Amino acid sequence: MLTYDILIVGSGGAGLYAALESRMEEDLQVGVLTKVYPTRSHTGAAQGGVNAALANLDPTDTWQDHWFDTVKGSDYLADQDAAEIMTREAPMVVREMEHWGCPFSRTDEGKIAQRPFGGASKPRACFSADKVGHVMLHTLYEQGIRHGVNFLNEWQVLSLMHDGQRCQGVTAINTQTGRVHTIQAKAVILATGGHGRIYWTRTSNALGNTGDGTAIAFRAGLPIKDMEFIQFHPTGLRRTGILVSEGARGEGGFLLNGLGERFMSRYAPEKMELGPRDLVSRSCETEVREGRAGPEGEVFLDLTHLGRERILERLPQIRELCIEFEGVDPIEEPIPIKPTAHYSMGGIHTDLNGQTSIEGIYAAGEAGCVSVHGANRLGGNSLLDILIFGRRAGKHALEYARNNSFTPVDTGQEEADTQMIASMMEGESGASIADIRRAMGNLMAEKVGVYRNGKDLESAVSELADLQEQFKTVRIQDKTKAFNTELVSALELKNMLDLAEVVAVGALERKESRGAHTREDHPERDDGNWLAHTMATLGDDGRPKLDFSPVTITEFEPKARTY
Ligand code: FUM
Repeated sequence: MLTYDILIVGSGGAGLYAALESRMEEDLQVGVLTKVYPTRSHTGAAQGGVNAALANLDPTDTWQDHWFDTVKGSDYLADQDAAEIMTREAPMVVREMEHWGCPFSRTDEGKIAQRPFGGASKPRACFSADKVGHVMLHTLYEQGIRHGVNFLNEWQVLSLMHDGQRCQGVTAINTQTGRVHTIQAKAVILATGGHGRIYWTRTSNALGNTGDGTAIAFRAGLPIKDMEFIQFHPTGLRRTGILVSEGARGEGGFLLNGLGERFMSRYAPEKMELGPRDLVSRSCETEVREGRAGPEGEVFLDLTHLGRERILERLPQIRELCIEFEGVDPIEEPIPIKPTAHYSMGGIHTDLNGQTSIEGIYAAGEAGCVSVHGANRLGGNSLLDILIFGRRAGKHALEYARNNSFTPVDTGQEEADTQMIASMMEGESGASIADIRRAMGNLMAEKVGVYRNGKDLESAVSELADLQEQFKTVRIQDKTKAFNTELVSALELKNMLDLAEVVAVGALERKESRGAHTREDHPERDDGNWLAHTMATLGDDGRPKLDFSPVTITEFEPKARTY
């Protein structure tokens, strides 16, 4: 049995920051378990910015402005105490990243450069061209190596273990050997990112964003919160869903429909392209539905007026992606785009320190839901969330591990997981992983997408239950032990199916429109009945069971949201 005082699952920004924080002051055994090599984590795909009211571009900006923008952006579902912590501490963590060597772009005076982002009243997204996630991830990884963090690379987590009160650890498979292990830990921090891949065919997410930590927490009986809120980023590349950063609009890009009209004037006359993502995605989708799209049902992001020099300086990665995946050079012509599933606002329910309902189990970053994003996250607040709440979870877990002993654990779960894998490896015929995954992705995109309605959602819930049945017959064709990627795909698919069901059930239940959740049959926000977090747990029948909990409102009374 392997043993760590603190085990962090996931090596993106939240996991690495938590690892650093728990490693800094004390000689505890801290491990980071990750299914990829750490610098391939999805944080590296974040492009446009990390928000902090540094006031480098607009000297009037304050953290209070950032706080209000975040709450308004969330359609008043964010917990305001959590959003306050995040926005108040933002300048400190961004400067900390800078001191650790994160190479931010600079103003002429040498300060950290900032650009406008959607839904923000002031330009506060700090950036490094269009690769800010990449540079942050590498900076954190370097610091992790420097501070002696121990990495278990290419391990897939399987189950979360607790005794009903306290954390025991996890089971995980070492994909290099194919062996299942029990890893005992006083504290476990789940930082496995989001579950955007449930929209398999229409997402900006990396292949690995299959919600593993969220799914194992759900199966271990922990509540997961606000899962129906999935953010569609307005500008995914037309055919692949790959992200084209909001930074492109922050630099002055226009959105055009198939008729060449700058259509945002219809929907957000003041903020135009820099409205919040839920609004801009709905606007793109409406243009398509009302017949003003391009030939493949796309709209366009026009950067041509920015000029070659600015595009090469500020948006070089975007240009490469457009050329590579669409054959379009944004210096010369508009980019064809469609909204793409981008971010999971919901996740494992935690308190302000990342603590879940079980002592010693924490969640942070996109896997967690504290909740700072409510029904709609602002661009640039996700990289901030991972820093702030990765740090807090690491700090709290350190304190917990220092003051508590190990909780006894046996190898029962390891045996059950070994058996579960053995039965998937037995036999040849059964449903195909690829078919189930594609069916799940298509139905989520069509029926649980930007616009939703009761009839489609009911059918989504029932189709997902069918896919769960089909999944039981999946058999792994590849019988090898080492690096069995087919087996990993099956494990990931199970996680995605469980979470897709929670998303669809929550979306069906929530009979209002709020933030990214737009019900055509319930078009208004309904604070009287629905100003509440959805809490999903696993019911005795194996299906999601919903409960609700109040939203924390400390400063800003909910009001109509206009841009
Ligand atoms: O558009 C972007 O660069 C994405 C940023 C974010 O999701 O925060």
